[in-house]
Formats: sequence, C-alpha cells, structure tokens
Amino acid sequence: MYRSAPTAGGATVDNRGTQRREADDWLSLSAPAKVNLYLEVLGSRGDGYHEVETVMAPLRLADHLSLRAVAGDPNIRLQVAGPLSAGVPTDERNLVVQAVTALQQRLGVEQGAEMALQKHVPHEAGLGGGSSDAAAALILADAAWGTQCDPAELDDIASSIGSDVPFFLNGGPAVCRGRGEQVAPLATPAGCPIVVAKPAAGLSTKRVFSELKKQTGASAKRSAGELVESFSSGDWRGLSGQLFNRLEETALGLAEPLRQAAATLREACGCSWTITGSGSALFAVAPSDRAARRLASVVRQRGMGWAVATSLT
Ligand code: C5P
Repeated sequence: MYRSAPTAGGATVDNRGTQRREADDWLSLSAPAKVNLYLEVLGSRGDGYHEVETVMAPLRLADHLSLRAVAGDPNIRLQVAGPLSAGVPTDERNLVVQAVTALQQRLGVEQGAEMALQKHVPHEAGLGGGSSDAAAALILADAAWGTQCDPAELDDIASSIGSDVPFFLNGGPAVCRGRGEQVAPLATPAGCPIVVAKPAAGLSTKRVFSELKKQTGASAKRSAGELVESFSSGDWRGLSGQLFNRLEETALGLAEPLRQAAATLREACGCSWTITGSGSALFAVAPSDRAARRLASVVRQRGMGWAVATSLT
C-alpha cells in the first residue's frame, strides 16, 4: 500500500510506508501480492493486448525489497534471496531492474542503485509478485535518489514495465481497466481471509491470452457490479460466490496439473476456487482465518503444491 499508506510517525517511515535505515542508507518496502477477484476480457486490441476489466486487491502475503543509492557508479545491481528465490533472474529480465533503469534513464540520474529482494511470492502465478516488486523499486529509487518524480510520470514508467505495475504503485484495492493500467481505487474493509495454492507448474500471461484469442465464439460479458458491492460492504460470503475470471477455462485447459489441482481443491475444500490473473495460482475466500490455515495445510498434505493462508489488506 504505497500512496495510501498511513504515516507511521518518527523519522524512519514516510507516508508511503518506505522505511529508512539511517545507519547505512538502505530504504525498504513490502511488495504485496494481489488476487483478481473478478477479471473480464472485453476484447482484443490492435497493440497485442486485451481490453480488460478487473477487480484487484492486495494481500498480506508480500515480498520485501531494500534499495540504496550508489554514487559514482551508474550500475543497477540486484540480489535475490528468500524461500521462493529459485529461478528468479537478477539481471535485466527482472522487472525490478527494468523499472529502476527506466526511472534512471527518464530522469537522467547519474547515480546507480543496489537492491536486495526477499521472495515470498511465487512467480508465474498470477499473484503479481514481479509487478509489485517493480512498483516498490520505483518508489524506493525515487526516494533514495531524491528525484521526486512527478506522480503522472511515475505512473507512465510503471505502465511501460507491465500492465499491473500502476495498480501496485497506487496501493489498495481497485477496479482496473484498459490493459489493466487504468486504476480506479476502491475503499474497502480489509481482513478477508484468503487461501492461495499454486501447483508446481507456472503459466505465462502471454501464453494464456494468446490461447484465449484462438478460441472462437462470443460469450456474454459479466459485470463487476455485485462483486464490488459485496467487497465494499465486507460481505465475504457473498464475495466468495461471486469470484469470476474469464481466463480460468483457458488456463485450466493449458495445464493438466492445474486442472487436477482445481478439481481436487473444489472437492476437498467445499468452497469456490478460481485462478488469479492468468494463473497458475488458485485462491478461495475462506470462512475464517482458521479455515484458511486448515485449507492451506490440506493442499500441502495432499502434495498439490505450495499453499499459504493470508488475507486481503
Ligand atoms: O503487461 P504485461 O507485460 O504484464 O503483459 C504480458 C503479456 O500478456 C502481454 O505481452 C500480452 O501478450 C498479454 N496481455 C494481454 N492483455 C492484457 C495484459 C497482458 O494480452 N490486458
């Protein structure tokens, strides 16, 4: 939650929640994961993207990014550690490096940066981990370099890095339109218990969207109205029954392990699961925090993959 984060007081946290460790000049920020509570694809566009309408909400589950400015060396360096760091690139394939490089070039900054990323959010999961890390990196680099980038310009850089990055830059739940980069914030009571499960196989967003494009036949478009009402009034039971993702069928069709996991979860847990983003993670609204923890352990015990009990924040 960046732009909406409360001031925590004292000299060590600013109004975006950026923590400053005075001793060694490192700044740090949590980079939350997200779920898509609703995702409708309205049509394909001429620029290789699809027009979407989606309701996204950040989770307590988060990566953690630290950054410090390096004077006299323009290089951008990244180290990745943490329980889910395997296979995460540390070079320009990582959105964090792309984001900080884009800001550096756009503003003509001569300093470089050193970053340390702790990964707790699985990648190729539809949980927005890479996009959230990139948004956190933009905020941290802007603060560490003292560049005070204009918010509209920061948004522009964010959307050039990925369709979901402006959502994370904004912080908080939102309805997102366009290719996902047009963010309309939603006020909401936080705390809804969520369980997330991810089978070993990942899915690429590009692949899921391009497979969807091949499918013929128009389907009646769904509206987010009722879901937004349940969400905003804190009616988690109502929300549970209204989860919707147009990419679900396509994603399940692409990955047999995902289809199996979805079927088993629905049967074993008795609540409605859907994918987040383009998958491969699935999530459900749980009746309580305790139920979320129980569901996560069912997933792990049955060897259906990685699972965590978390909540909307
Ligand atoms: O914006 P991002 O880099 O996350 O998108 C990755 C890919 O997903 C795009 O290159 C595009 O193929 C597909 N995509 C899409 N429509 C969107 C978002 C992503 O077709 N709204």
